[in-house]
Amino acid sequence: MNILILGAGGREHTLAWKLNQSSKETNLFVAPGNAGTALIATNRSVDVNDFEAIKAITLSDKIEMVVVGPEDPLVNGIHDYFLNDTELSKIPVIGPQKAAARLEGSKEFAKQFMMRHQIPTAAYQSFTNATLQEGYAFLETLNAPYVLKADGLAAGKGVLILNSLEVAKAELKTMLVDQKFGSASTTVVIEEFLAGIELSVFVLTDGTGYKVLPTAKDYKRIGEGDTGLNTGGMGAISPVPFADQAFMNKIHDSVVVPTIEGLKKDNMPYKGFIFIGLIKVGDNPFVIEYNVRLGDPETEVVLPRIKNDLVDIFEAVADQKLDGYILEIDERSAATVMLVSGGYPEAYEKGKKITGFDTIQDSHVFHAGTKLFEDQVLTNGGRVMAITSYGTDFKEALRKSYENIENIEFDQMNYRKDLGFDL
Ligand code: AMP
Ligand code: GLY
Repeated sequence: MNILILGAGGREHTLAWKLNQSSKETNLFVAPGNAGTALIATNRSVDVNDFEAIKAITLSDKIEMVVVGPEDPLVNGIHDYFLNDTELSKIPVIGPQKAAARLEGSKEFAKQFMMRHQIPTAAYQSFTNATLQEGYAFLETLNAPYVLKADGLAAGKGVLILNSLEVAKAELKTMLVDQKFGSASTTVVIEEFLAGIELSVFVLTDGTGYKVLPTAKDYKRIGEGDTGLNTGGMGAISPVPFADQAFMNKIHDSVVVPTIEGLKKDNMPYKGFIFIGLIKVGDNPFVIEYNVRLGDPETEVVLPRIKNDLVDIFEAVADQKLDGYILEIDERSAATVMLVSGGYPEAYEKGKKITGFDTIQDSHVFHAGTKLFEDQVLTNGGRVMAITSYGTDFKEALRKSYENIENIEFDQMNYRKDLGFDL
């Protein structure tokens, strides 16, 4: 089977690694991919949002399934594009159609969905330029800290958490009037702040059946002790130790089931991953956000814990046969540590030679921002490589990753040495 994966990060390398282990004969293509995917698949230098170029390689490479990594092409309607094209309509796409991808594309839409289906989430109101004064008044009714969210996609930067009312008002104005996040902040959602500990739950659905995948927790801040700027993610662990069976049952009943039922009731066809960002407040789960894809670096710990053949799983999704499917999960913990370029998430240099990663035995090396130049692997992004290990618990898994990282080198390499500190 010829499979095309869209994307270029650690998530996509992990998808390729897992699909590559299938007992079915597969031919993998990744667009645009990275140096890691180049080792196990054929990279095609096509932009994930250039649907016509994707169509061209789909036809010339005789692609029989498309797996979408990042959110942008989903929010832009890649799945609908395939369904509406007579030459592509029979090729299954793993990832929701545009209508459901709005759950990630619009925070306001996601909040309305949760309200409509009684899914627990923080109280909120949304505002535009025309209702700025009402926005100020709503902020005055809340206690610090204040949570402001740009409605649209803002590359993970659109959420501000502010301690002072004056600053919150000023930022609200900057978002709405000065378009701080461009058109993404034409609408701003203001939410009640929830204090608790976060985790992510991943669900795979074919629109009717669904499977709850292993939980994960990622570390978003650049600095140790969860300080400093937000990044795409500095590492992750799976499973989340505090997500015991009783808590998972609550998540299943109050979040997962109403989400799947809500998609059906609202007529939003969904074949793909749902990434539910949750916060545990007291003993109860609240939804912080939906993403319509796998997380990165969560994928680097979730997929290694799934024992089944991923090609089989995706075929079950395509054929709507997920219901009868039995998932087998590895009992071990997995942890991943992201190696990043010095300076990231602010300005950083690219093109640094990476050494030592190819001799590592008992960890998996998943490439993120890397590229091949002649026969060398060079850095090509802020997040460079994720080093994943297994252990009897997350501490042992982390220890193994940290040990192996000692062998990897590139100029100005940085990583967090305190993952799991809060658990
Ligand atoms: P989001 O992009 O919606 O996931 O928000 C980014 C981060 O902001 C989350 O991972 C949380 O750490 C934090 N956050 C978002 N909404 C809230 C909230 N209502 N209360 C507390 N923290 C929040
Ligand atoms: N690690 C967070 C995300 O993928 O959005």
